[in-house]
Amino acid sequence: MSGGRRRPVIAIDGPAGAGKSTLAAHLARRFGFLNLETGAMYRALAYKAIDADLDLDSEAELLALCKVTQIALEPARDGNRVLLDGRDVSRRIRDGDVTAAASRASVHPLVREWMVAQQRALGAAGGVVMEGRDIGTAVFPDAEVKIFLDADPEVRGSRRYRQVASHEHEAVPVTETAVLVEMQARDERDRNRAQSPLRAANDAIRIDSTALSLDEVLARSEQIVCEHLRP
Ligand code: DC
Repeated sequence: MSGGRRRPVIAIDGPAGAGKSTLAAHLARRFGFLNLETGAMYRALAYKAIDADLDLDSEAELLALCKVTQIALEPARDGNRVLLDGRDVSRRIRDGDVTAAASRASVHPLVREWMVAQQRALGAAGGVVMEGRDIGTAVFPDAEVKIFLDADPEVRGSRRYRQVASHEHEAVPVTETAVLVEMQARDERDRNRAQSPLRAANDAIRIDSTALSLDEVLARSEQIVCEHLRP
């Protein structure tokens, strides 16, 4: 897979609410790399499945959908603009129904296989910060830098709540407890699915951001990347 790749791949994995997106966007800006948010791809597919009224537990239905779907990630100021079959769905895919559906859709091994193939193609030239759950273990196991970003569930829940609360497109008002419960259910599914469950790669550098400020996480990560990129 690494044949001919010149520029590095920075893999950022970890559970929801750990701060991966902020970190990935920062590192991409800092090092001039492309930022690829793989969760947005699962979200876009899940949104299309909801729209088509498909059964999220049916691997066959979802795989058939994959085959007629194009998902593009374009660089935007903080993260990615997400194009589903050419249509901008960047905001809609952050809604609660899509969040839950993406988690369900992502357990299917053949859906994951399709996603991983897309993600490898997107990152093939290197020069990317790729963020997700299985980048360092399945998508780019030979990534030059692997960071596994984690934090205690309560801290992740309250960060996620603040993020959701600021997302004014959300139709239904949410509570912090509801966000925490939903996040724990997703964590459970992500960590226990049969294919490429969420776990740190053996050679990943772990950062626990529970007691760290954002600036501390960014500074530590920058240092890790600099050390690895040093000739
Ligand atoms: O990072 P996120 O919350 O946008 O991810 C949405 C869902 O997609 C999440 O429930 C887990 C899944 N996902 C995955 O299984 N593998 C990835 N590489 C990225 C996301």
